[in-house]
Amino acid sequence: KKVVLAYSGGLDTSIILKWLQTTYGCEVVTFTADLGQGEELEPARQKALLLGIKPENIFIEDLREEFVRDYVFPMFRANAVYEGQYLLGTSIARPLIGKKQIEIAEKVGADAVCHGATGKGNDQVRFELAYYALKPDVKVIAPWREWDLTSRTKLIEFAEKHQIPIAKDKRGDAPFSTDANLLHTSSEGKVLEDPSQDVPDYVFSRTVSPETAPDKATVITVDFERGDATAVDGVKLSPAALLAKLNDLGRINGIGRLDLVENRYVGMKSRGMYETPGGTILLAAHRGIESITLDRGAAHLKDELMPKYAELVYNGFWFAPEREMLQAAIDKSQEFVTGRVRLKLYKGNVTVIGRESPYSLYDQELVTFEEGAVAYDQHDAQGFIKLNALRLRTLGQRRKKTGI
Ligand code: ARG
Ligand code: SIN
Repeated sequence: KKVVLAYSGGLDTSIILKWLQTTYGCEVVTFTADLGQGEELEPARQKALLLGIKPENIFIEDLREEFVRDYVFPMFRANAVYEGQYLLGTSIARPLIGKKQIEIAEKVGADAVCHGATGKGNDQVRFELAYYALKPDVKVIAPWREWDLTSRTKLIEFAEKHQIPIAKDKRGDAPFSTDANLLHTSSEGKVLEDPSQDVPDYVFSRTVSPETAPDKATVITVDFERGDATAVDGVKLSPAALLAKLNDLGRINGIGRLDLVENRYVGMKSRGMYETPGGTILLAAHRGIESITLDRGAAHLKDELMPKYAELVYNGFWFAPEREMLQAAIDKSQEFVTGRVRLKLYKGNVTVIGRESPYSLYDQELVTFEEGAVAYDQHDAQGFIKLNALRLRTLGQRRKKTGI
């Protein structure tokens, strides 16, 4: 029996690795992905070897371009935001990791996959919905729901017994849990659990505070083609390089911090802190270019679909027909979303200050306060308003007559 483990190389997934070997007695295949979390991957290989994984059973992949091109960008075409604020940085990464685990399972002939998410969160749902969608007969192992290593002391004991190296700072309880990739870093738990208390400074890892950001604004341009960003300041960049560039610009200007209490799919509320520097700029820029290139009907329908789309991503239904249906509609809307947006980054704020497009629907002739285009005759507005007012006048007459 073989199992493909989503392996970060950290202490928790190393313990899971050993636990799979000892409890399940199965051959473990490790999969470590670079999603832009900013950690070296070679140490994970060394650690897997040390823990007895055969070299041919160690898989390490750089998924940064695929992540941004096929997951982050499609999601940003929808302007997806969960519960009004969360840019879904963790939610969007899970389906890709799950998909790669299944691909490796097929390749090496494994019948099981395993992840390190707890039994209380969203991530277990996202991983497992991806697994089952892509390999319906797969066996899923979720150690956090199964084992009796229920305290830090027991975990450390287990690690020591099996000669798993423990970094000095990992002996005690971590002060909070994090998840990072090119789109965001999220922090939850422990010192963040009381939502009445503010987030301690040491939790922030990829943005300066708006207060210490430069007093001088940074002005940039972002180019779009069919809804996807293609260049910053006129320089063409690959999807991952572009997001990394926006992250740098966001970091120094203190952009993209979010302290949020959200509703988890499993039913509980949770408090988290997110840093999404590049994504926050990208969302503003995308809305900027859409403002001149989308027709009102298309724009408003898209905005109605957005919360549903965001909820599907949050709940883990990336590989579901309803997400794909919405994606098809959203992608169709992006046909003419091409052009350049100019933005000002200043002390935590991102402001659109200019937009232009060869496909712009903005008609200065039509909107001008000066004597304008013949296509619009102001006299027509009288009838337009009168017919729209008909119902309201009828209601008003009844109110007058009945007094209620
Ligand atoms: N609450 C976020 C989500 O469900 C982040 C979850 C993972 N974050 C973490 N710090 N472990 O998408
Ligand atoms: C976890 O429970 O593993 C992280 C938090 C979440 O998935 O919501």
